[in-house]
Amino acid sequence: AAIEKSGYDHFMLKEIFEQPHTIFDCLRGRLDAAAGTITMAGVQNNIEQLKNASRIIIVACGTSWHAGLVAEYVIEELCRIPVEVEYASEFRYRNPVIHKGDVIIAVSQSGETADTLVAIEKAKEQGATIFGVVNVVGSSIARISHAGAYTHAGPEIGVASTKAFTAQVVVLTMIALKIAHEKGSIDNKRFMHLLNELQEIPEKVPAALKDSEAIRKLAEKYKDAKDFLYLGRGYNFPIALEGALKLKEISYIHAEGYPAAEMKHGPIALVDETLPVVFVATKDSYHEKIVSNIQEIKARKGKVIAVITEGDEIISKMADDVIVVPAADELMAPLLSVIPLQLLAYYIGVAKGLDVDKPRNLAKSVTVE
Ligand code: G6P
Repeated sequence: AAIEKSGYDHFMLKEIFEQPHTIFDCLRGRLDAAAGTITMAGVQNNIEQLKNASRIIIVACGTSWHAGLVAEYVIEELCRIPVEVEYASEFRYRNPVIHKGDVIIAVSQSGETADTLVAIEKAKEQGATIFGVVNVVGSSIARISHAGAYTHAGPEIGVASTKAFTAQVVVLTMIALKIAHEKGSIDNKRFMHLLNELQEIPEKVPAALKDSEAIRKLAEKYKDAKDFLYLGRGYNFPIALEGALKLKEISYIHAEGYPAAEMKHGPIALVDETLPVVFVATKDSYHEKIVSNIQEIKARKGKVIAVITEGDEIISKMADDVIVVPAADELMAPLLSVIPLQLLAYYIGVAKGLDVDKPRNLAKSVTVE
């Protein structure tokens, strides 16, 4: 049957709003918080390679590369395995060092991105174990991988990836938790806590979607800006990159994502009263640090739009505009903080009268290099 927009104006909006279900589907049959188990055959069957990996190299492009960056932070934190995140197009051409004990995780929505496909073919020839995290069942990357886990997000039609991204982050987080548990690099209490936190995410996503009307108004307010800066730290740093990418793709406004503390080495020179700065600033162990980064922007008269955890009075008082998401463990925060940024990009694109489902010059799947 043809895939319909089911009442939504665009596929992108429909796919953003599907996320409570797609995240649930991604967890279903795999994560059982009450039993304390994660069932993933692809991980289980290759657990020796995964838990003994000298290194994990994540290879991807675009939004999938951002999911890989989130996974770098999560895997290193929980599994104590060094992780590199590589742009497939760079990795395939630069004669990278690959050892037999290395595990390559290829992350791809379509499973057909040419650069990612060739990168893993080369790594496979050199003896690496290839693990695919792919959305499209039976796609080229899924077939060439030794093992893998599907993201089960369903068909994604909007060119800019949304629900596939959150599904990738969920799958990669489950893989990290499973490796950590098998390896013994996480204690049982934290393991159980994180399983519960992850299981609760699908119930929290609707609360991250509920302010869409307020976000639409924000889009009206900021749609004529020439540039945007997106800043985050820790687990939310990749979300700053992803928020900026979404805006570029959909609204054609130039946007740059940056680690919040690194901005003082360059982007701070751009800050004046015309620059909107989006802070991805949910309550986590970096909170105090990001509060001072917000002060640095306000001192230079930048306009601050902050994605915050509900009840955050401190940032509410400092920011020009806030968007609230529910509280979650900081490892899971990206799954909630990315959602308002998807909506912001969407509504700015719509406010500018652009074709958000098919932005100019972009393709859903880049099968040529
Ligand atoms: C294209 C799409 C992006 C996607 C990227 C990687 O640029 O427009 O949305 O993130 O390719 O695609 P993949 O299918 O490998 O995840």
